[in-house]
Amino acid sequence: MNILEEIKQLKKEKNAIILTHCYQDIEIDEVSDYVGDSLYLSRMAAKTNADIIVFAGVYFMAQSAKLLSPNKKVLLPNMNSGCLMADMIDVNSLREFKSKFPDIPVVCYINSTAEVKAECDICVTSSNAIDVVRSLNKDKVLFVPDTYLGKWVEKQLKNVEVITFNGFCPTHLRIRPEDIISARKKYPNAVILAHPECHNAVLELVDFVGSTKEIMEYAKQSDKKEFIIATEKGVVDRLNRDSINNNWGKTFTLINENIICPNMKQNSLEDIYRVLKTEENEITIDKSISEKAKECIEKMLSVKI
Ligand code: 13P
Ligand code: SF4
Repeated sequence: MNILEEIKQLKKEKNAIILTHCYQDIEIDEVSDYVGDSLYLSRMAAKTNADIIVFAGVYFMAQSAKLLSPNKKVLLPNMNSGCLMADMIDVNSLREFKSKFPDIPVVCYINSTAEVKAECDICVTSSNAIDVVRSLNKDKVLFVPDTYLGKWVEKQLKNVEVITFNGFCPTHLRIRPEDIISARKKYPNAVILAHPECHNAVLELVDFVGSTKEIMEYAKQSDKKEFIIATEKGVVDRLNRDSINNNWGKTFTLINENIICPNMKQNSLEDIYRVLKTEENEITIDKSISEKAKECIEKMLSVKI
């Protein structure tokens, strides 16, 4: 048996599922039950009947799956897959930030640890941030840790002041406005799609801003043929694969070749096989924070959009 078959057999034996973020190496899709963005994968984690969830993504995603499915065993294939943005804020810096702006609700991007979520009011992902902040009906909110997503939300809502923490995604910040300007010259017929973690000056110049899954859906439905993608390479690989497999006749080009999240790429098929076999790398969350952190995510999931 090859490794793909071995993984599939272990999944069956152990009633396990594999949730895969679309920044993972594309070969992982072959053994995955669900592939998508953080919001979609959180929803899948909340409703699965599996006994084991292997989360092919980064640490905070596996932690969120554990919060939503506390009775399931959640395994992260490689413990080195952290998120650089999530690590930019901890409980101490969050408390300090909150103390400067008392009595303002705190919105927390899902790219954060459970400890941080436990001290925030409501969570958001890149695909629902605008709607969730609007649903709060406040004229001011604090937003952690991503300053660019927070400012993007502020720009879209117009009547809400979004006071942001100074976190950012180092991978998305490698995309510069000059990249968009030169892509426009080189590919004058292309549609340019970007993730809201990009710098706001980049977002101003593109045709569509959305989460990883929204970018993929937009590109699939569009009647255009040429696309420039300003987010992680995994999205481009999947779109080009789907275009070939389904005869879309579309081409997808990564905005610049450095847009690869090193943390997301830590998980390999070998790691997945190993954790499924040994059940190591289990995510555990201290009871003292899990209830509050879970509430923060569940509040987000209950917002009617
Ligand atoms: P999505 O919410 O679009 O999946 O993005 C997660 C992420 O980490 C982007 O860098
Ligand atoms: Fe974190 Fe950026 Fe990687 Fe997303 S792309 S997981 S925000 S470091």
